Amino acid sequence: MSFVLEFENVTKEYRSFASKRRLRALDSFSLAVEAGEIFGFLGPNGAGKSTAIHLAMGFMQPTSGNGRLLGESFGDPGARRRVGFLAESVALYHRRAERLVRFYGALNGMGGTQLDKRAREVLEIVGLQDHANRNAGKFSRGMLQRVGLAQAMVNDPELLILDEPTSALDPLARVMVRELLIGARNAGKTIFLSSHLLSEVELICDRVAMLHRGKLARLGRTTDLLQAGGRTEIIVRAIAPSHFEGAAARDGIVSFSVPTHGQRAALEKVWNLGGEVVSVNPVRRSLEEIFLEVTAEPLSPLSKGVQ
Ligand SMILES: Nc1ncnc2c1ncn2[C@@H]1O[C@H](COP(=O)(O)OP(=O)(O)OP(=O)(O)O)[C@@H](O)[C@H]1O
Ligand SMILES: [Mg+2]
Repeated sequence: MSFVLEFENVTKEYRSFASKRRLRALDSFSLAVEAGEIFGFLGPNGAGKSTAIHLAMGFMQPTSGNGRLLGESFGDPGARRRVGFLAESVALYHRRAERLVRFYGALNGMGGTQLDKRAREVLEIVGLQDHANRNAGKFSRGMLQRVGLAQAMVNDPELLILDEPTSALDPLARVMVRELLIGARNAGKTIFLSSHLLSEVELICDRVAMLHRGKLARLGRTTDLLQAGGRTEIIVRAIAPSHFEGAAARDGIVSFSVPTHGQRAALEKVWNLGGEVVSVNPVRRSLEEIFLEVTAEPLSPLSKGVQ
């Protein structure tokens, strides 16, 4: 198994000189992202997602622990050149959009007609071809995010690290980005993205991690997490709802859920009552439900010491 991004027991504390207090934004955080997956990095505001991303990009150092980006220590300039990065709040210079994208390409060692061609290509991918000569400093929030994506892709990176890539995008652009990311994954690239748009994450991410107060609270394949409720929904016809606790009836169709281990007994009861089974399905949870569950979990005693 090859990992493209690894955090090993990373702790990051920010120090406030004014109050002399320390804030632990990441707390013994470990995670390994596999090559070729779309990985969703979730968690409430202030959970530490952007902090983790900034450490991976080498913008600052962990307080303790370490990690690797494309097999090199965080901050390695060679590895950085093979990564495309989109910051949470895109702040761009007052330059023509095309020039900005070329600027980022040049930072990654690109140049000449190859860079000109690629800059036009990525601006077209994000739907900004008609705005390529406009001053990006005057762009709308969504347009800025599009330029940000274009610059992240200009060097055809192996790994895309995107901090909330679609937060300002309109629905059409979101679909565009979704297709773009799936296309990139199918071409063998890896995508690590943070997002609060859980329905989008459900659609495209192969695996997700949820961070809560700097600690890893959940990790798994998206499909497994969504089915891990351990309950089965049974829909039947031709029995009275009163036979099953919590059953709802509508137009002669009765639905209820049981713990998965009690599924067989419930189905036998339906048949014994002369009912007809319409469907039996694992209860699918949403990432939103899991997210709310995680954020309601109490602080572990270990992380109470530092504020
Ligand atoms: N430069 C900094 N100096 C001091 N504290 C910081 C700094 N950057 C982040 N923090 C703090 O670290 C914690 C984690 O912040 P971070 O930006 O990593 O969260 P996040 O998960 O990205 O949140 P969001 O979903 O709102 O983007 C927060 O309490 C934040 O105030
Ligand atoms: Mg953030």
